[in-house]
Amino acid sequence: MALLQIRKYPDAALKQPAKPVDNIDGSVNAFLDSMAQTMYAAPGVGLAATQVGDNRRLVVLDTDHEQPGKHLLKLINPQIVEAEGSILWEEGCLSVIDFTAEVRRAAKVLIRAWTPEQKEIEIEATDLQAVAFQHEIDHLDGKLFIDRISRIKRELYRRKLAKMLKEGKSNGQRPTSVRI
Ligand code: NI
Repeated sequence: MALLQIRKYPDAALKQPAKPVDNIDGSVNAFLDSMAQTMYAAPGVGLAATQVGDNRRLVVLDTDHEQPGKHLLKLINPQIVEAEGSILWEEGCLSVIDFTAEVRRAAKVLIRAWTPEQKEIEIEATDLQAVAFQHEIDHLDGKLFIDRISRIKRELYRRKLAKMLKEGKSNGQRPTSVRI
């Protein structure tokens, strides 16, 4: 199975809101498997279909570093049904090169989604997993974590990125925080 190409900011595809999936068939599951392989290879702990140029509401997520693959979640039409508390987390993203920033998110969320087995499930998440769910669902809504930081920080990143792209290189530093 070929790895999918991850779109990078400022690719316009990242701003496209995704559409709900109304038919869960084998091709959806196969695509989720390709997304998971792409996520692990990157490496990252979450990936939304939006990031690979697909406009379906699909997300893969695995925040368990100890046993990769064991707790892989392949989710269809995920949504936040409850959110509480507040947490500040240093986020990075597979679609935003060479940049991390602290983002405020709900500390605890309840997610409802469909599985490839056509079951509707609910997942309660805290900490990194809660952050990752919110980050991925943002992707499905055409939003990046840099849309949630101050305008001045975003502008500084934009300039730095423009300079890096002009020079044809990134600074080679990989973010130390996990990318979602
Ligand atoms: Ni991301």
